[in-house]
Amino acid sequence: MKKIIENVYSVGAIHWDRRLFDELIPLPDGTSYNAYLIMGSEKTALIDTVDPATKEQLINHLKEFKGLKIDYIISNHAEQDHSGTIPDILEANPEARVVTNKKCMELLIKLLHIPSERFITIEDGEILSLGDRTLKFIFTPWVHWPETMCTYLAEDKILFSCDFFGAHTASPETFVKDLSKAEESAKRYYAEIMMPFRNFISSNLKKLEEYDIKIIAPSHGQVYSDPNFIIALYRDWVSDAVKNEVVIPYVSMHGSTKVIVEKLTEALMERGIDVYPFNLSHADIGEIAIKTVDSATIVIATPTVLAGPHPLTAYITIFLNATKPKTKFMGIINSYGWGSITVNWLTQHLSNFKGEFIEPLEIKGLPTEEDLDKVNKLAEKIHTMHKSLGIT
Ligand code: FEO
Repeated sequence: MKKIIENVYSVGAIHWDRRLFDELIPLPDGTSYNAYLIMGSEKTALIDTVDPATKEQLINHLKEFKGLKIDYIISNHAEQDHSGTIPDILEANPEARVVTNKKCMELLIKLLHIPSERFITIEDGEILSLGDRTLKFIFTPWVHWPETMCTYLAEDKILFSCDFFGAHTASPETFVKDLSKAEESAKRYYAEIMMPFRNFISSNLKKLEEYDIKIIAPSHGQVYSDPNFIIALYRDWVSDAVKNEVVIPYVSMHGSTKVIVEKLTEALMERGIDVYPFNLSHADIGEIAIKTVDSATIVIATPTVLAGPHPLTAYITIFLNATKPKTKFMGIINSYGWGSITVNWLTQHLSNFKGEFIEPLEIKGLPTEEDLDKVNKLAEKIHTMHKSLGIT
């Protein structure tokens, strides 16, 4: 248990050794599931709970408050990493009610089989008094699910933002101290979890402008005593601005694709472009996602396997299609031996990409000098496209 301010405590759990989220997203620094206890003069509220795998930590933290009776469990988000221990808290507090919006209630009933009579539903902007403290509910749909909301503690100007502004970090320090590390973790979180909802985030950032916020207490990672730090980062990430960068996810079986990627990397760097090649046979997809937050161009390079793309390239293509980076230009390079439907397959599986496709480059066998000249021309084309954006 950690004190945030007088009568407001962080009581959640740290998951030090979790290494995957949704069995997909790498978590190199573990994560935390933050829950917050607010003790008003008349009522006590618990904001969110923890992933069931760590529920003992929450339960033990709550035991530190002798005679504690929880009146309200505020559920900002139905995803089980925050809601999964609500049934345990309800069982231990038979009079407690779950306070949330209607959509979240419906999900919690489906996901956790919580009886409907245990809920109090609230509307956007509604307030709940704890006596000397007041909670206001701010609906923030699609950050991260349609039912997601934030809770604002009015007297102390604390925003309990749940996934919004979160970071997958396991740290003994409750508050952010190392800004550079905090930015890195928050950007990874944004890239892996939030980026598909960029437009929703943008409108919800605007919605929050009317609130005077002194502290942001998310449900993953550390608490921000300087809200402007993370809000400014989010404004940048969700903006349309891109950097003079190219990300190249690639895989090479017998070396031909590698030769092409090395040539492209060199040719782009010669033109002053920052290039990030990622060999998919061992790359961390989180690192790729981070780089796609601001890169102007992505070039996917792959050999053909059994007529289609190498499965590792197919995987990253589906991943990038789901995360929807704001990248402006997309290139495809295919190295093949005889026939190939690779370019068609990759293009079709990038249906969410709203930018411009660069004319694909298909090279048969080990690249010749002529082929490498085509790679050089591709680099020149990308350079020209970046110049058209005014980012070189
Ligand atoms: Fe941390 Fe969308 O759950």
